[in-house]
Amino acid sequence: MELRLALLGCGNVGHALLEMVTEKEHDLLRRFDLRLSFTGGLTRSAGGWVAPEGLTARQVLSSGWPLGELPTGSVPFAGDGVAFAAACPADALVELTSLRPQTGEPAISHVRAALASGRHVVTANKGPIAHAYRDLRELAAEHGVSLRFESTVLDGTPIFNLADFTLPVTRILGFRGPLNSTSNFVLSQMMAGASVEDGVTAAQRAGVAEADPSYDLDGWDASVKAVVLANVLMDADLRPADVKRLKLGAQAMRTAVAALKPRATLKQMVEATRGADGHVEASVRLVPLPPGDAFAHLAGMETGLRLRTDTMGELTLIEGEGGPGQTAFGVLTDLITIVRGLAPSVRRGPPSGGLGR
Ligand SMILES: NC(=O)c1ccc[n+]([C@@H]2O[C@H](COP(=O)([O-])OP(=O)(O)OC[C@H]3O[C@@H](n4cnc5c(N)ncnc54)[C@H](OP(=O)(O)O)[C@@H]3O)[C@@H](O)[C@H]2O)c1
Repeated sequence: MELRLALLGCGNVGHALLEMVTEKEHDLLRRFDLRLSFTGGLTRSAGGWVAPEGLTARQVLSSGWPLGELPTGSVPFAGDGVAFAAACPADALVELTSLRPQTGEPAISHVRAALASGRHVVTANKGPIAHAYRDLRELAAEHGVSLRFESTVLDGTPIFNLADFTLPVTRILGFRGPLNSTSNFVLSQMMAGASVEDGVTAAQRAGVAEADPSYDLDGWDASVKAVVLANVLMDADLRPADVKRLKLGAQAMRTAVAALKPRATLKQMVEATRGADGHVEASVRLVPLPPGDAFAHLAGMETGLRLRTDTMGELTLIEGEGGPGQTAFGVLTDLITIVRGLAPSVRRGPPSGGLGR
């Protein structure tokens, strides 16, 4: 079986995906009879290409694209990401463009164009799920295709797949966890005596913090993740601005570290619960954790999530250091889920000649 992929965005995660598909080529074939081919690629600055016959991940990598030449056997594609998502001769769009947390665009439009033209979508981009999940879920169902997004929270750690495939008839009642690695890395440094500024510099040197760390320290990254989790797992309809961000940022971190009791650990924590009126409320705040709290033991860049369920009580997931490799793995698991016909709204026949061949 061949699944033809259109790769929209090819930075750290796209490159890691090409490497992983190359490395796992034989396992994919042996375990799932699956060959992943690339029939197109597009980035903002490198432009696009299509190769209707399909290239292997190794062929795309060896071209050096998007930094080098177009892959051999491809022809240039002139349109933008939306045109590419709608027109690339592929069974699935792999959407790996940069996140725009305020609006989710243009990724929402990319995902919409692909679903509306009968293509499955796998994305690691939180924007479309945080801003337009209900609409996109309905569009996917209408067109009999799948929308998968395992890597949007905690990289490739199975959260949505866990809920979808291993927790039948289960209601997720709430969740909490330290979801933002940069804030918690900086807090660990501060608890060891560093200033906020030194902690941020160390996080930037370690490659986890952006040039402007306020997106992480002010709780926006955690808010976007909270919304993705709440909307998908608890059927909420929140947007990032609906999340209560309480006493966050550099000055609040200094104050909270100074006030920390001995043996306690400070983490930036996300929490969501369903109120008596049925609405889901989500928050991000700095929380002093007692030594007995499992999350208190997480090292700098580790992240975690505890689900409160009506069947299993509490379930806790902890991710060691994440990154593009783990994120690419989540994308790969989503692609495998689609070809195995496990995902909701999978079209049973071949969508456009590729899947099922
Ligand atoms: N890195 C991780 O570990 C991680 C973890 C979880 C989730 N994610 C999410 O995964 C996605 C990809 O992350 P990344 O680390 O690979 O980002 P990245 O290295 O910055 O790469 C982003 C890619 O998207 C392209 N792009 C951006 N805007 C575009 C547009 N409008 N049209 C076409 N291409 C566009 C960029 O092209 P140019 O370079 O030509 O501008 C680049 O190829 C992001 O949404 C991120 O939030 C990443």
